[in-house]
Amino acid sequence: MLNIYRSVLFPIIFSGFKADPEWIHHQVLNVFSFMDTYSDSQLINSIRTTMEKLFCFKDPRLEQNLWELNFKNPVGLAPGYDKDGLAINIWPRLGFGFAELGTVTFHGQPGNPQPRLFRLPTDRAVLNRMGFNNRGAAALAKKFQSQSKTNSLIHPSLFHYGINIGKSKITSLEAAATDYLDSFRLLKSWGDYFVVNVSSPNTPGLRSLQNTDSLGKILAVLAEENQGEKPILVKIAPDLENEAIASILDLIREYQISGIVATNTTINREGLKTQIIPATGRLVTEEAGGISGAPLTQRATEIIKFIWQETKGKLPIIGVGGIFTAEDAWDKITAGACLIQVYTGLVYQGPGVVKQILQGLLKKLDEYGLNSISEAVGLANK
Ligand SMILES: Cc1cc2nc3c(=O)[nH]c(=O)nc-3n(C[C@H](O)[C@H](O)[C@H](O)COP(=O)(O)O)c2cc1C
Repeated sequence: MLNIYRSVLFPIIFSGFKADPEWIHHQVLNVFSFMDTYSDSQLINSIRTTMEKLFCFKDPRLEQNLWELNFKNPVGLAPGYDKDGLAINIWPRLGFGFAELGTVTFHGQPGNPQPRLFRLPTDRAVLNRMGFNNRGAAALAKKFQSQSKTNSLIHPSLFHYGINIGKSKITSLEAAATDYLDSFRLLKSWGDYFVVNVSSPNTPGLRSLQNTDSLGKILAVLAEENQGEKPILVKIAPDLENEAIASILDLIREYQISGIVATNTTINREGLKTQIIPATGRLVTEEAGGISGAPLTQRATEIIKFIWQETKGKLPIIGVGGIFTAEDAWDKITAGACLIQVYTGLVYQGPGVVKQILQGLLKKLDEYGLNSISEAVGLANK
C-alpha cells in the first residue's frame, strides 16, 4: 500500500496535479468523515475492515502503559490533521495507537487567510500558517456526544484521544487562562489526555505564553479545575533555548503536569533547500509560518534528550517532529519519548507509514534484545 501511495498517488499530488495542499487535505478528511458517519452501510463497513487489514499491525510488545491508559501502540496522529474530530473512528483503522484532536479554541474561528499551507518536497517539509482554523470546543464536544449516543465511538480500551487546546484569536493574551479553562471544561469528559498548546507560531503572541508567568497562570487554573482527573501536558516550540525549557519544567513540577509534547513546528528557516514558494512566488524566508518534517527531526530529538536528562526520565514525553521511518521513531523513543506522533510523515509517506514504523520498531526491539517499547525509552541516554 505504501508503494502504491509513493509510486502512483504521490507524484500526482506533488507534481503533475498542482492542487492546493489544503484542498487535498479537506478532500481526504471529507472521505474519512463520510466513512465515519455512514458506518451503517455494508459497503462502508467492508472498506473499514479492509483498511484495518491493510494498515493495522498489532503486537503486545508495542503496547505502552501511561497515565493508567493502555496504548495499543506508541504511534499517534499529531494534532492539526483532524482539528474538529471529523474522522475520529478512522484513525484507529489506519493503525494509530492514539490521535490528538485539535487544536481547538473556545471560540470557533476561520484561521488565517489562504493560501496558508505549502509543501516543500525538496526538504521533505511543510510550511503552515493555518492559525487554528477550527469549529470551536463546543462543536468538538458535540461531535463526541453524538458519536457516543449512537454507540459508534471506538471503545476506550482500544484507542485513546488527546485533545489539544489553544487560545482563541479574539481573546487577549491577558485573558488566555480563562479561554483555555473554558475549552477544558467543555471537553474534559471526552479527552483521555489534554495538551496546552502555547507553541504555535501562527496565533499572534501565542508563544509568549510559554514564559513562566503566563504559563503558570494557565496551568494553575487548569490544575484547579482538573483535580488530578485527566493527564494535562504542555506542548513546546523547538525554538526555545534550554534555559526556557528548564523553566517550563519547573512549572510542570509545580502544577503536577503529566507530561510534555516536544515539539511544535519551527520558525527557523536555516538549511532549507527550498528558496521560493511556487504558490506565492516569495522567498521561503519571507513567508510566515512554521516548518514541520525533516528539517525538524534533529532539533526535536535534541529537546527530547534534554528534557529526559533534566527530569531523569521521570516525565512522560510525547516526541514529535520529522518522523518518517522506524529509524526516526526509534531515535525519538531512545532519546526519551514514551509516545510519538506523526503529521508530515503521513503527508509524504501516505497511510502505510504507521504500519511501516511499527514493524520497524519491533525489529529494533529484537535487535536490542528488548521485550517492550518502554524498555527502549531513554536508552540512548543511559
Ligand atoms: C498543517 C499543519 C497544521 C498543524 N496544526 C497544529 C495544531 O493545530 N496544533 C498543534 O499543536 N500542532 C499543529 N501542527 C504541528 C504538528 O502537530 C507537529 O507538532 C509538527 O508538525 C511536527 O511534526 P511532523 O514533523 O511530524 O509534522 C500542525 C502541523 C501542520 C503541518
